[in-house]
Amino acid sequence: SPTIFSGIQPTGIPHLGNYLGLFQPFLELQASSPPTTPIYLSVVGLHAITLPQDPVKLLEDRKNALAALLAAGVDPERTILFFQEDIREHSELAWILNTLTSVGRLQRMTTWKSRLATSRSSTLDQISESDLRLGLLAYPVLQAADVLLYKTTLVPVGEDQLQHLELARDIAQMFNREFGPVFPIPEVQIVPSKRILSLKDPTSKMSKSAPSASSRILLTDPPAMILSKLKSAITDSEPTITFDPISRPGLANLLTIWSSLDDEKQGSRRSPQQLAEYANENKWGMKRLKDEIGEILVDKLSPIGESFEKIRKDESYLSEVAKKGRDRAGEKAQEVMLEVRKVIGLGRI
Ligand code: TYM
Repeated sequence: SPTIFSGIQPTGIPHLGNYLGLFQPFLELQASSPPTTPIYLSVVGLHAITLPQDPVKLLEDRKNALAALLAAGVDPERTILFFQEDIREHSELAWILNTLTSVGRLQRMTTWKSRLATSRSSTLDQISESDLRLGLLAYPVLQAADVLLYKTTLVPVGEDQLQHLELARDIAQMFNREFGPVFPIPEVQIVPSKRILSLKDPTSKMSKSAPSASSRILLTDPPAMILSKLKSAITDSEPTITFDPISRPGLANLLTIWSSLDDEKQGSRRSPQQLAEYANENKWGMKRLKDEIGEILVDKLSPIGESFEKIRKDESYLSEVAKKGRDRAGEKAQEVMLEVRKVIGLGRI
């Protein structure tokens, strides 16, 4: 029987990339899955600390992440919504999986290689690979532990997580080969809006860490800010509207965003190509296109922003949700770890 799991790092208010890459497909799964399908969504603090974090800000960001998920429509009665760091078994399983994972495999991960590249270019001293921290290298193993701990079968994520989940699948297979069939091999679900790009540099993805704040639209941005960020989004000066991700990535990104929000039901969404044709038939220029998308974004995001403000203030509600999630996730995690310890020879004597 299926089990759904996904995760998000508490590193700032979630942005439109998170919304379209994770929240939206997750909410569709939440609405369409039979009540017997367990659905887990974890705010992963142990992943966040693989890069240096200010403790005060981290606490704030964890609450913000939880409040943003609730504001966007994650139902804490239906979904097991919890903080990863509340469940010790994540760390324990990660350790066990570390003993099965080769260092070379981790060094070949693109996220590790790009960290290496940024740390080299951002400091005066040359940082060598051996100076980067162990936790950052082992990041994908902890992610594999997150998924496998609940015997997950389906993981909805954006495209940037694909390589991590291939590793999780491989680790599951290695474990099963060595110790017997404990873990299902998790399938990955990537949505059409798998990679939303930066509004300022459409060669890179929209991210929480890019220096320019106007490169991303946050779920809590007020309407005027959403519109001004869109207005300043990098496109090009060709006269017609076409969907061409290779030579017109900025424009293609806007059409992808529009398409993802075109309709509530995935089946009736017009494709980015269809929307480009529609804009052309109506002789729209870039400005008219941005106005249209701006209106759609404001309609979608401002209720989420308003709801976020209310939920975020209600700290006792947030801790109630966290406790409920912790109790429900903990139950399954403990059950699976009993089995894992037993098959590897570490069961109680
Ligand atoms: P994180 O916190 O970077 O992102 C959360 C989710 O948002 C998606 N996403 C995007 N999708 C489309 N376009 C973008 N520009 C964009 N930016 C982010 C991500 O693909 C992700 O689905 N390592 C994970 C968190 C994690 C996890 C897990 C996920 C930890 N354990 C287990 C799934 C299963 C991460 O850093 O996501």
